[in-house]
Amino acid sequence: MTTTLYHDIRNRLKAAGVDDPGLESRVLLRDVLGASDGAILAGDEIPATPAQGAALEAMLVRREAGEPLSRVLGFREFWGLNFKLSPDTLDPRPDTETLIETALNRFEGHPPKRILDIGTGTGCILISLLHEWPGATGVATDLSAGALETARENAQINHVADRATFVQTSWAGGIEGLFDLIVSNPPYIVRDVVPNLDVNVRNYDPILALDGGNDGLDAYRSILTEMKTLLSPDGIALFEIGFDQGESVPRLVEESGATPVAVIPDSGGNPRVVECRVGISKKTIAPDS
Ligand SMILES: C[S@@+](CC[C@H](N)C(=O)[O-])C[C@H]1O[C@@H](n2cnc3c(N)ncnc32)[C@H](O)[C@@H]1O
Repeated sequence: MTTTLYHDIRNRLKAAGVDDPGLESRVLLRDVLGASDGAILAGDEIPATPAQGAALEAMLVRREAGEPLSRVLGFREFWGLNFKLSPDTLDPRPDTETLIETALNRFEGHPPKRILDIGTGTGCILISLLHEWPGATGVATDLSAGALETARENAQINHVADRATFVQTSWAGGIEGLFDLIVSNPPYIVRDVVPNLDVNVRNYDPILALDGGNDGLDAYRSILTEMKTLLSPDGIALFEIGFDQGESVPRLVEESGATPVAVIPDSGGNPRVVECRVGISKKTIAPDS
């Protein structure tokens, strides 16, 4: 029965132009019916209640209409953890894992104690880092109350809620104390480009998570101004950047009086993370790997 269901779903997704209809069919069956890939592919009969059938059909219709699978499922895997999505959160991108990798690399053997995540969305950056470093605590900000609600839930789901504080504010406004690590993946799309983004982004990611102002750099200007009083003298700040911001963001860092130390590429070779510090005066920017 499930084989039939599997083939029906796969055919519908294929007709809708989904790239990997087999994989997505199995993901939907697993999510709604709890069916394993092995059981589905072996043709085992996995019964569906009427409620499960209705839920599956509703999800299928949304996917056929072009809604991204992660939005239909309501969650996204990031850094091996599950994150709930909501209409107020960005769907976390695999490229953002470059920031996590860089943080782990820079603090290897001496984890940071306090972390600040500016513009947290689902909370994926802070929560992944707290998951890696059980001795660390963190503060995460967002302007969106809805995003913060989802981030709080994600902290619970991933068992770090007792070490994370979520604050509704603009950038780091009102945040006090010193942090060993400041991270941010702020909105960095040039405003005029937003209407031309891929339909999967434009129609489903909130505009607040995308719009970086006229030159895409507004958020960095604000965050760099605030960073000076929040980053401890031997602390590190890591900012995600757009593929074409590998020169403009380091320049802003320098203009703010901080030091751009490295630009780290993502797995596709595009500039993705800018590392900066406040305690050193000489510009030491270097390509990284
Ligand atoms: C590109 S998204 C990144 C979300 C998440 N950190 C991630 O990597 O998936 C940028 C986030 O910044 C938030 N944001 C936009 N303007 C803000 C502001 N003025 N102050 C704080 N957060 C803001 C958005 O709501 C959004 O959650």
